Amino acid sequence: MKTKGIILAGGSGTRLYPATAIINKQLQLVYDKPMIYYPLATMMLAGIQDILLISNEKDIPFFQKILKDGSHLGLNLEYQSQKAPNGIAEAFLIGEDFIANDQVSLILGDNIIYGKLDFYRNGIENNRGGYIFGYEVTNPTEFGVVELSKSGEIISIEEKPKIPKSNFVITGLYVFDNSCSKRTKELKPSKRNELEITDLQISYWNEGLLNCNLMGRGIAWLDTGTPENLTEAGMFIHSIEKRQGRKIGCIEEIALTRSFIDIEQFEKILFSLPECSYKNYCKKVLAEYK
Ligand code: DAU
Repeated sequence: MKTKGIILAGGSGTRLYPATAIINKQLQLVYDKPMIYYPLATMMLAGIQDILLISNEKDIPFFQKILKDGSHLGLNLEYQSQKAPNGIAEAFLIGEDFIANDQVSLILGDNIIYGKLDFYRNGIENNRGGYIFGYEVTNPTEFGVVELSKSGEIISIEEKPKIPKSNFVITGLYVFDNSCSKRTKELKPSKRNELEITDLQISYWNEGLLNCNLMGRGIAWLDTGTPENLTEAGMFIHSIEKRQGRKIGCIEEIALTRSFIDIEQFEKILFSLPECSYKNYCKKVLAEYK
């Protein structure tokens, strides 16, 4: 079954003010590249090539400036605007025509995931309705929280509970079948007047159609919501990249190694880049690949 992708990159990013007064949160720098590169890389690594990017109308031209229509990376990138932050599930209303008859994976534009993505590929392959991905944290009250039985069945799902039933939170990465748009139309806005992604999950769960994979301790799922954790995420990326000499979330490298583009196209991209450490890295990738 074909899987399309949606990256939700709108919102007001108030917690990152004043930086977000000028630039969309998802275009802020996470060490050496804009935040949006990381969720895009996650989708590409799962083999997803048809992607809809949803953001605020005023910010879309900036995303288009760096990512264009995606064809240079072997992607089909489309853009649509969200008028106001009416909730994460609204992505499936905005993206209804784009999704058409396919399965869809949604990633929030501020979610950075580092590590082996088998849990994600497995969810995409085995999805029978909806798939969510849990991650253990010390501050679950700030997120959607999932409680699982010993055998991995979902026992409860709650959005930002005051008293969480587990330390496993629902990350901003989801897989849904194409009934997600129809189901979202049946949702009522929450107390904070948003179409909640947790309510959509519950709609699948009520029918026994929701599964959860845990990401495991070998994965880093990083926060970027506040100046402090944005800096920490940047430091994490910096540490790994410095140690290994390999970039995390280099979308050109992924396009080449996943065979979305050929070596001639990679060289063409390389030629268009200004002299910088990012270009030097791409030169290294090319030399290794040849
Ligand atoms: O990050 C995972 C969490 O994301 C989940 O555990 C929660 O269940 C889920 O509700 C969500 O919680 P947040 O409160 O962290 O979501 P937030 O409103 O901060 O939005 C996350 C990103 O999505 C942010 O980069 C902006 C974007 N967004 C959000 C909304 C509500 C939009 O583009 N449009 C929207 O309408």
